[in-house]
Amino acid sequence: MDKWTSGAAYDQWMGRWSRLLADEFLNWLSLPSHLRWLDLCCGSGVLTKAIVDRFAPARVAGVDASAEQIRFAREHRNGPAVSFETGDAMALPFDEASFDAIVCGLGLNYVPEPERALLEMRRVAVPGGVIAIYVWDYAGGARFLREFWDAAAATDRKALAYDQGRRFPLCNPEALRKLFERACVEQVRVRALDITTRFTSFDDYWQPFLTGQGSAPNYLETRDELTQNAIRKRLRDSLPTDAEGVIELPARAWAVCGRR
Ligand SMILES: C[S@@+](CC[C@H](N)C(=O)[O-])C[C@H]1O[C@@H](n2cnc3c(N)ncnc32)[C@H](O)[C@@H]1O
Repeated sequence: MDKWTSGAAYDQWMGRWSRLLADEFLNWLSLPSHLRWLDLCCGSGVLTKAIVDRFAPARVAGVDASAEQIRFAREHRNGPAVSFETGDAMALPFDEASFDAIVCGLGLNYVPEPERALLEMRRVAVPGGVIAIYVWDYAGGARFLREFWDAAAATDRKALAYDQGRRFPLCNPEALRKLFERACVEQVRVRALDITTRFTSFDDYWQPFLTGQGSAPNYLETRDELTQNAIRKRLRDSLPTDAEGVIELPARAWAVCGRR
């Protein structure tokens, strides 16, 4: 249901919002320079790059299950302290206590068993090391996605089965806190990360849904042209658009941070 087959297309779909969120998240973590970082579900490497830009890390390893995403990250987000490799967040290819900070941006909800991933994050963290993640608030505050799923559901009953707000009940503050606590992560803190998604036109909003990367674009490409056009029209008629055609929507993610 979720395909991650092109780093370039993923960047077009989500990259600009990933970077804004990564910056908010790293502001919040506010960690010192020269740490050893692990970026899980790194995708095209947006968060990895933000870590490099901000913290002059001793090392950053990016891991993702998709070989295509890793290939793209190696080509576009490489650097002297950076490495990217294919791997599963539930079985990490690293020794115990190898990293000072382990992060995962917009990925934990896609891992089949998030609790196993948390236990792995804890295993590879040094004692006292930081374990932190963020996920979209699919059911509510991630408005650019919410508006899409609401328009899709009003047009096509089958859209409900694809709706991330329904598929990922983990993506709320209480469920995330409990997940961290079950994995024996300590000093758990949860907060909202708020950004604004600004689209210069309706096309700027709609085109990324045609990239075939990630849940909403994957759903859309399985629909016939009539359904696609009906969803598009509904959104065009309902999204708040200013006199210049600009669409601005608030977008919220939930971030969780703790220590081994
Ligand atoms: C929405 S993307 C997030 C990419 C990036 N971290 C960002 O912030 O834009 C989710 C990523 O999780 C990866 N993924 C899903 N399941 C995984 C698993 N079990 N282990 C590692 N990566 C996984 C996918 O391949 C995809 O690249």
